[in-house]
Amino acid sequence: MKVLGVESSCDETAVAIYDGDRGLLAHQLYSQVKMHAEFGGVVPELASRDHVRKIIPLVQAAFDQAGLPYGSVDAVAYTAGPGLIGALMVGATTAQALAFGWQVPSVPVHHMEGHLLAPMLEDEAPDYPFVALLVSGGHSMLVDVTAPGKYEILGETLDDAAGEAFDKTAKMMGLPYPGGPMLSKLADTGNSQAFQFPRPMVDRPGLDFSFSGLKTAVRLEIARHAEDEQVPPQAMADIASSFQQAVVETMVIKCKRALKQTGRKALVIAGGVSANRCLRQKLQEMADTTASKLYYPRLEFCTDNGAMIAYAGYLRLRSGAEIDRSFVVKPRWPLTELEPMHA
Ligand code: KG4
Ligand code: ZN
Repeated sequence: MKVLGVESSCDETAVAIYDGDRGLLAHQLYSQVKMHAEFGGVVPELASRDHVRKIIPLVQAAFDQAGLPYGSVDAVAYTAGPGLIGALMVGATTAQALAFGWQVPSVPVHHMEGHLLAPMLEDEAPDYPFVALLVSGGHSMLVDVTAPGKYEILGETLDDAAGEAFDKTAKMMGLPYPGGPMLSKLADTGNSQAFQFPRPMVDRPGLDFSFSGLKTAVRLEIARHAEDEQVPPQAMADIASSFQQAVVETMVIKCKRALKQTGRKALVIAGGVSANRCLRQKLQEMADTTASKLYYPRLEFCTDNGAMIAYAGYLRLRSGAEIDRSFVVKPRWPLTELEPMHA
């Protein structure tokens, strides 16, 4: 069974084709990052317009890459939420229209389920059950995954998502958009021990996160330096590095706690922030010392992509998802509302 996957929930237009027998046959992506950089963040209206411009050429390119005649798929999956409403509507409408035209089912996919399942596209994929740390621009959560579609939220952020904390802190530091990867790059040149920023919520039991206090601590540190007119470049790098260290350490502590609490031996990280090198490294060290195993997607499938949507759509369809051509996109959509999949 071949499934075309369409992703347009934020500022990436992405299309992929997944084959149940042969794996991933094609994936195409267009990032709008340059356009939004001018405004220092994603402008929803512009994002929707640009998805319209790029989506069909990417569908065409995916079929060309796979060497398949246009339309020769068994279903079309699309991100139905959560995300920016206008952006979601472009992908959903395109996918529904293509599926109707080709007379195949269309499958709405939850964006975070896509992220969560992305490591399954790798040669070294985890077995169920596992704990997943989902960290993106809009979400931060720890999930106990007993089977595809069976998700129990162990903890989540009480304020900013991890990626959002990276982005907002980067903006405060005057770094260009997209802030997260920029801040992380700058952090590589700094001293992570230079400033002792708080490790939020680690002293309290439980698995929730909170990042807004950390953001405030960074702001105060910048303000303190700003009294010398301009923050010296090395101090900036040290702030970035110390901030990253605080976020990463917090996440490592929570992941370790989640593995212990559930008794799981496998940890999956996914979502944009799982591309962070420091996070991967520190989690790997934790996994090595706790006899657990760490899994993550290849870098290009950490951030938004079509492959994860095609794959999640394939699994949903295989497990007998109901075909509903009038499904409405959901800008907000709790992961726990999903039905467990049948094998
Ligand atoms: O999963 P994603 O592409 O989109 C959402 O679903 O939100 O995640 C994007 C987020 C952004 O906040 C971005 O700054 C962050 O992931 N991100 C990173 C890195 N690469 C992307 N944050 C820290 N370090 C990185 N290397
Ligand atoms: Zn995402």
